[in-house]
Order: sequence, then structure tokens, then C-alpha cells
Amino acid sequence: MEWIIGVCVVMGMLLMSWWILLYGKNDEKTMGKGKVPKGNSGWPLLGETLDFIASGYTSSPVTFFEKRKYLYGNVFKTCILGSNVIISTDPDVNKVVLQNHQGNFVPAYPKSIRELMGEQSILKMNGTMHKKVHTLIAGFLRSPHFKARITRDIEHTVKQCLASWTSHQPIYVQDQVKRITFPVLVKVLMSVGPGEELDFLYREFAEFIKGLICLPLKFPGTRLYKSLKSKDRMVKMVRKIVEERKKLRIDNDADDEGDAVKDVLEALLRDKGDSSSSARLSPDMISQNIIEMMIPGEETLPTAMTMALKFLSDSPIALSKLKEENMELKRLKTNCSEDYAWTDYMSLPFTQNVISETLRMANIVNGIWRKSLNDIEIKGYLIPKDWCVMASLTSVHMDEKNYENPFKFDPCRWEKIGAVAGCNSFAPFGGGNRLCPGLELSRLELSIFLHHLVTTYRWVAERDEILYFPTVKMKRKLPICVQPISA
Ligand code: HEM
Repeated sequence: MEWIIGVCVVMGMLLMSWWILLYGKNDEKTMGKGKVPKGNSGWPLLGETLDFIASGYTSSPVTFFEKRKYLYGNVFKTCILGSNVIISTDPDVNKVVLQNHQGNFVPAYPKSIRELMGEQSILKMNGTMHKKVHTLIAGFLRSPHFKARITRDIEHTVKQCLASWTSHQPIYVQDQVKRITFPVLVKVLMSVGPGEELDFLYREFAEFIKGLICLPLKFPGTRLYKSLKSKDRMVKMVRKIVEERKKLRIDNDADDEGDAVKDVLEALLRDKGDSSSSARLSPDMISQNIIEMMIPGEETLPTAMTMALKFLSDSPIALSKLKEENMELKRLKTNCSEDYAWTDYMSLPFTQNVISETLRMANIVNGIWRKSLNDIEIKGYLIPKDWCVMASLTSVHMDEKNYENPFKFDPCRWEKIGAVAGCNSFAPFGGGNRLCPGLELSRLELSIFLHHLVTTYRWVAERDEILYFPTVKMKRKLPICVQPISA
């Protein structure tokens, strides 16, 4: 018995010395006037991970941040998920990190996610190559021609999904909205419509993303291994499409002048390469990136749709105002028998405020992780080389200094602050050179979904709870009972 106690004591002392060696020295580190922010590195190995995760499982995920903000200030240090991290809840510091003008920060993802991404993934790459790929994709997704065309596809998919809802049984919103967002995303990326190929991608992608948060072990039988196999199968299929499209372009001697770009795949295929940012994008790289773009595109938007419905179900006044605005547009369009233009959906001010308020409160991407390549000083805080920094979006969105009564779903607040919506305190789509290229598509899809939903059905939502960890979700998938409005 004594020897067990002895071993425990020696191990305890060893861990303690290792801990002091590892973290103690950083506290003293300074550069110019900057100091490593105050904070606690928690337990050896574990750091403050347990507290961080436990807070994510509560109904108020900002508790972890609030506690430390109170003790150490708006920017503090901690150690979570095995990394030294500086957490910023300060909008100005977040802005500098996201803008990344000097190229000092690179994306930092957990190991399992890094394993699933190719070396040349837009999510991982940096410098001129990243700038080129980001510009090609964002430029295409922002173009009015694309928005006009995709509006028809979104309307069709939304109407088809809503038409399948019946009043006899509960509709599980969280699952249903994926029947809208996934086909639209695949269409946007590579113009694949309903059929075998889409079903194949849906199945394989579901398998692939199971590996995003898992143990980073890669051998037959492990989760990560299975996910990588699914990715290989998808890349093989996409690669075939890329080769076919490439051949077609050569056969038709496409000069691209005046022709509108059809999808993201074509936007990437049209790249001719240049001296500053290296050679043309290879078919393999294009195929990988098409699959990897599904990662940020697939989970976020359906969650935003589900959360909008949840917040509206709990806010009858906002719901009735939204319905009034959308019914008015529907009447107008019916009376003059005109199709909707994408600008019709985007010009409804209250609907846009509902979307902003949903994004502020849902915090689908709760924070943005970066790793610093050098010692960096921001606003007097030192971020040491090789440390992670997390720009917490949730803390900024839920801070009463930035938003009065921040836990209240109040779309009307945007009537006052709408003019400064681009300010540092609202960044659901990130910012700087990695600003989400799917921003405008997401807002358009949300607007079309809300329009057809509130002008087709009234509904009652069953009791459900929002979970915030590891990703934002409804505990029971948000069951609702619908009634057609004319009934
Ligand atoms: C409500 C929906 C969405 C939200 C809240 C959202 C949020 C974000 C955020 C915060 C980032 C920045 C990540 C970082 O800086 O590391 C990002 C990046 C990105 N998003 Fe979105 N996103 C949404 C929808 C979409 C959609 C529909 C697509 C695809 C069409 C998309 C594609 C991307 C891509 C490719 C990036 C990486 C950009 C880069 O690193 O250059 N997102 N998104």
C-alpha cells in the first residue's frame, strides 16, 4: 500500500514541476510593453478543458468566458483541448486577429479535422494561394447572375420540402431543413441535381463528417479511418465530373468571354494560373476543395434555419410582424403574376433583421481559432509565438456593452443598429481575408425559406432545448406541428 502512495506522490511532484516549467515561464514573457494576458492554465494536461466543456453543456455557454472576463479582463489566457490559448472577448482584438494584415495568424483546427482536410484545402491554406482560391469562390458566390439563377433552385427545393409536411405528425425541423440545404449546396458547388449522384454524396458526406470531432487515430476500424474512406469515394466521384467538364471545355474551345460561370467547380476550372500565385489549380485540388467546402457549408446553414424557427416560435410578436411583411410581398407577386427576384427576398427589412438577430443569438460558429506564427502584440496584450488565439464571437454577441438585453430575441434592435451592422461587434461570418464566402448565399436561402414557411404554414413547436456543445443543435431536433394557413 505504502509503495502505491509513494509512487502517487512522486508522480504528483513530477507533474507539478512539469506544469511550472511549461506555464510558469510564459507569465513573465513580455515584448515591448505587451504582457501575456492574465489567466489560469488549470490542471496539468487537462488545463481548463473540463470547465470549458461543462459550460458548453449548460443553457448559457458564455459562463466559461464571463467568469474569466470578470477575474482577468476581456482578454485572458487558459489551456484547453491540449493547447495554450489566449481567448479574446474584445471586439477590437478580434478584428485585428481576423484581419490578419501581417499574415501572423494561420487557422488552427483540432487534429481530427486537420487529418480530414487535404493539404491544399481552402480551410487550411495560407498566403497567395489562399487569396486566389478565396477570391475565385467568393467572387462567383457574390455575383448577381449566380444569385438570380440559384433563387429558382432554392425556391423549388424549399417548396418541395414544405409540400411534404403534413399536419398528422410532428415535423422534425432540424432534419427537414437539410433536405433543402444539401441539394442546394451540391448544385452551387458542381451542378449535380436530384438523383443517384446526389444520394451517394448525401450518404458519404454524412459518414465523412462523423469524423470531424473524434480521436485522431487512423487505422482500419477507427472513426477517422472510415471518414477518410468516405472522403476518398467522394473525391473519386467529383474528380470524374471535373475531368468531364475539363474535357468539354477543351472540346468546345471555351474562351469564357461573356459566358456566365455555372458553379464553383467551373469558377475554379477557369483559373488560368499566373506568375504571382503559381500554376493552375489541378483537377485533384479542385475535387478536394469541392468536398471540403461542404464542411463549412453543410452544418451551419441548416442550424441557422432551425434556430430562426425556434426563436420565432418563442416570440409571437416578431413572428406576426415577419408574417405580415412576407404576406404583403406574396400578395404583390400574386396580383401581378410575377416571379420573385432574389432582390425581392433580400429587400424585406424586418426579415433581414430576423436573420441578423438569429445569427447573433445562435452563434453557430462560436469562435474562430488561429495560431500565431510570431510574438504578436495587440492592444497591449502579448500573444506568444505558437500559441492559439480564439476570437470568441459568442462573448461579443452576448455582451450587454454591445447589445442591450442581449439574451432577448429582438429583431427590432437592428432598426437602430442596422447602419453599423458591419461593425466589430457583429461577426457571425467571421471577417478579414477568411470572411465566409457563403455569407450572401446563406442570407438569401434563409430569406426564401422564411418567406415560404410563414406564408404557407402556422405552427406550434413542442418543448425543446438548445445544446451548444460540441456544435449548436436542438436536443429533440425541434418537433413542430403545422397547419396550412388557408385551413
Ligand atoms: C449561416 C451560415 C454560415 C455561417 C454562420 C458561416 C460562418 C463562417 C465563418 C465564421 C467562417 C470563418 C472561419 C474562419 O475564419 O476560420 C466561414 C468560412 C467559410 N465558409 Fe461559411 N458560414 C455559413 C455558411 C456557409 C455556406 C453556405 C458556405 C458554402 C457555400 C460556406 C463556406 C465557407 C468557406 C469555404 C469558408 C472558408 C473561407 C476561407 O477560409 O477562406 N459557409 N464561415
